[in-house]
Amino acid sequence: MFFKNTNIKKISFTLFVSFFIILNLNFTSYSQTSGEVPGSSLGLNSDADLWRYIRGGNKGQTQLGSELSAVMIQSEGDNWRSIRNGPLSRYGAYGLIGMLILLAWFYSYRGRIKVAKGFSGRTITRFRAIERFSHWLMAGSFVVLAITGLNMIYGKFVLLPIIGQDAFSALTVGGKYAHNFLAFAFMIGLGMSFICWVTHNIPSKLDIEWLKQGGGLFNENSHPPARKFNAGQKIIFWAVMLGGLSISLSGWALLFPFETKMMAKTFGILNMVGFNLPTDLTPLQEQQLQTIWHGIVGLVLIIIIIAHIYIGSLGMQGAFDAMNSGEVDRNWAKEHHGLWVEEEDQKAKDTGKDGIKQPAE
Ligand code: HEM
Repeated sequence: MFFKNTNIKKISFTLFVSFFIILNLNFTSYSQTSGEVPGSSLGLNSDADLWRYIRGGNKGQTQLGSELSAVMIQSEGDNWRSIRNGPLSRYGAYGLIGMLILLAWFYSYRGRIKVAKGFSGRTITRFRAIERFSHWLMAGSFVVLAITGLNMIYGKFVLLPIIGQDAFSALTVGGKYAHNFLAFAFMIGLGMSFICWVTHNIPSKLDIEWLKQGGGLFNENSHPPARKFNAGQKIIFWAVMLGGLSISLSGWALLFPFETKMMAKTFGILNMVGFNLPTDLTPLQEQQLQTIWHGIVGLVLIIIIIAHIYIGSLGMQGAFDAMNSGEVDRNWAKEHHGLWVEEEDQKAKDTGKDGIKQPAE
């Protein structure tokens, strides 16, 4: 015999006791009763309060050194996604389509706004080279930022089904880099345009009259008086400057994530004027709010700028020249910026320089 008799007895006894213990355990703690989860987990007895606390995005403790890793479940991510893919995208699309419909209606109603007296053949300098450079630096970069930004929100619904995954992926990755780097060109152009034009965009009483007459946009024979910029242009100017500053700051926060607390600070300022907004934001909440805000301001600016591009090109005869060559026809200038032409003529008289340019023979 391989084993001695006594050993067999000992082994049999041990096996029997172990088997009994296992069987006992199985029938007591491992058996599933009343829907409980089998095993030694707490099953239905789990600590609901603890999990609710964690699911609420609360912070625990971590040795990883990053505040972000102390949050086990970032619940606001769900809210963030539903806002971005819900109201932000939906109302943004309504706004964009609404503006296109409005412009199509306006074009069918008014057609291209013509120079009532026809071109005179004599021009006046409207924008110097530095002004045009600033405008196009800001405008060119904005257009690329707008297209690549729209692709980030709507591309997967609109472009992806048409061009397929590979092309969409290449386009979107390229677009993301263009978006990141051209942001700096936009900021520079924005700052330069502000310096060039801020003094001409201070609101004045004249603006009220211009607005009352609807800027003469709805009536061929109405040309409300205006200086270098009329009230409509001042609205565009301040929308672009303030919106541009805000989108630049939120964009900066997205370019350098988790390094700024601008949202919390802004909420703190708003709370001073009666709001009741949270100021103890986690770094991730700060980022999420920045992306939502960036998207809102971006969409609003794009909607406004579509109208601006229309009126600066197709919508008004003679307007594009101002930003192209910098020279506009005097009749165009008198109709849309009569007081400015008078001021420029006076300046030319005072300095002895004739600002009027004759066409080449
Ligand atoms: C891409 C097409 C664009 C065209 C064809 C265009 C055209 C023009 C023209 C012709 C003017 C001068 C109007 C005048 O003589 O009174 C102007 C001014 C201006 N543009 Fe643009 N623009 C474009 C894009 C943009 C963009 C993308 C922005 C801003 C992000 C912008 C911001 C401005 C501002 C602030 C002014 C001065 C205020 C005003 O005239 O409204 N433009 N633009």
